[in-house]
Amino acid sequence: MSVGIDKIGFYTPKFYIDMVDLAHARNEDPNKYLVGIGQTRQAVAPVTQDIVTMAANAAATFLTAEDKQNIEMIIFGTESGIDNSKAAAMYLQNLLELSHEARAFEIKQACYGATAGLQMAVDFVKLHPEASVLVVGADIARYGINTPGEVTQGAGAVAMLVKSNPDLVEIEEPSTFYSEDIMDFWRPLYRSEAIVDGHYSNNMYIDFFTKTWEQYQQKTNQTMNDFDAFLFHLPYTKMGIKALRTILTDDDHSQKIWQEFEAAKKYNAEVGNIYTGSLYLSLLSWLANSTNVKQGNHIGLFSFGSGAQGEFFAGRIGPAKKRLEIKDQVDEMLADRTLLSIDEYEEIFNARKPFESADYQLDTSSENANYYLLGQKNHQLIYKNANEK
Ligand code: COA
Repeated sequence: MSVGIDKIGFYTPKFYIDMVDLAHARNEDPNKYLVGIGQTRQAVAPVTQDIVTMAANAAATFLTAEDKQNIEMIIFGTESGIDNSKAAAMYLQNLLELSHEARAFEIKQACYGATAGLQMAVDFVKLHPEASVLVVGADIARYGINTPGEVTQGAGAVAMLVKSNPDLVEIEEPSTFYSEDIMDFWRPLYRSEAIVDGHYSNNMYIDFFTKTWEQYQQKTNQTMNDFDAFLFHLPYTKMGIKALRTILTDDDHSQKIWQEFEAAKKYNAEVGNIYTGSLYLSLLSWLANSTNVKQGNHIGLFSFGSGAQGEFFAGRIGPAKKRLEIKDQVDEMLADRTLLSIDEYEEIFNARKPFESADYQLDTSSENANYYLLGQKNHQLIYKNANEK
């Protein structure tokens, strides 16, 4: 029985900034951001969107009433938690009106959380072939205004429905993993912005990729030539280029892999880092934008979460019947966004509510998403489903 990703959905907030504008505001050469970092635009989340609402908006793009009934597990991967105790999966279950006969919980390991969730979901469906699992990765990447990491911020959510006989991607065995306690990127409880040793983190990413890829080749006797595309966690798209350079040569197959990577980084370059969802945004980007996707394609996926955990695994493309519908949906969402000036972005960035005990009510008059945050009352976050009158 094959098990994997049957449906995938994406949501990113309606605002973005242009990296050329940001470069000018920070006195940098625009090519540093466009070429050196590989980002063209960056999503900006208004205060009315958080991980719960973005995850709900992403999952709502594909969930049917039947899907909702069959979901027996809701796994929420995030490193932008909204509560120290209660899982974001509970709010999501409520907002999406999912079945209560389900396990619902949150996973944290930096940008690796959604991969841990996906692997757990696959194992669960192998034991319970009639069940479905909803796995989401949702984050707001915040490094701070005028920091080196600022150009690698972003916001968004990817939701995936894991089932038997999946339409999109069968997840294969084995996967190879490597973990080690390192301080390349972390966010202490008292901060809403990450602390990052960026160059060290880049080196660790490459080191973990090399280790898990070598381990994978030893375990399976497969080489680069056994794959049609390689997909990466993309904190910024140049990171994937750096990783590919360690394994590709100038032969014909390498050229083909480079070409596929162009399609795999398209959406990430326009959205920025969405942490846990980034690898899966790249998967979606490849499925939507490569003209070479066909059933049976073999893809390699590298997941990395600072701190740090790396995992390499492989997938086999299914019939992928609806991938072009997904492309239309995402292209439309990205085209409909509003460009902010750098001053407007800074105002929104600074307006994000720090964790505080007081009640507050947000201005939601310009919200056009189905799900958004209304405010806080009696220490409880209050969410809105716009479909509910
Ligand atoms: N034209 C083209 N490229 C240029 C350029 C120009 N005018 N100016 C600089 N560059 C290139 C540099 O050569 C460099 O390329 P390289 O990485 O291939 O060597 C790249 O742009 C970045 O320049 P650098 O000086 O290294 O940038 P920085 O010190 O400001 O920081 C990061 C870059 C990525 C380290 C920083 O943005 C960061 O820390 N981001 C967060 C990373 C992260 O998310 N880590 C954790 C999760 S994996």
